[in-house]
Amino acid sequence: MKLIIINGPNLNLLGRREPEVYGNQSFEDYFATLQFKFKTTQLEYFQSNIEGGIIDKLHEVGFSYDGIILNAAAYTHTSVGIGDAVKAIEAPVVEVHISNTFKREDYRHHSYISAGAKGVIVGFGLQSYDLAIQSLIA
Ligand code: DQA
Repeated sequence: MKLIIINGPNLNLLGRREPEVYGNQSFEDYFATLQFKFKTTQLEYFQSNIEGGIIDKLHEVGFSYDGIILNAAAYTHTSVGIGDAVKAIEAPVVEVHISNTFKREDYRHHSYISAGAKGVIVGFGLQSYDLAIQSLIA
């Protein structure tokens, strides 16, 4: 089973960025714990601050990987292009968010990703990624 986590803009700063919202752990550290937990799953991680970089990665992996865990971060709420890419590919996409976006500003309540996603996991902190992996390997 081959899965990839794709993180969008500013998520490279996890651990340092608004820790009261996103926690104190870097994604690299958390990713190591995921790799340890899901040893029999081939897990990759990609992060980009650039919309087109995320779209290119979705095209690259979207016809050969078994699943994609996508946190498009702020692009979730703005990017028709990423939403269209999710619909264009074959691999199932699980949309994840660390924070509960529905408890936050109104502009975070809409997602361009959800309509093309297999499912959405929102608001469980970094554990959202763990739950998304579990949903894809079940
Ligand atoms: C986020 C929520 C988005 O609204 C925000 O722009 C992010 C992170 C989350 O994981 O909670 O950058 O996707």
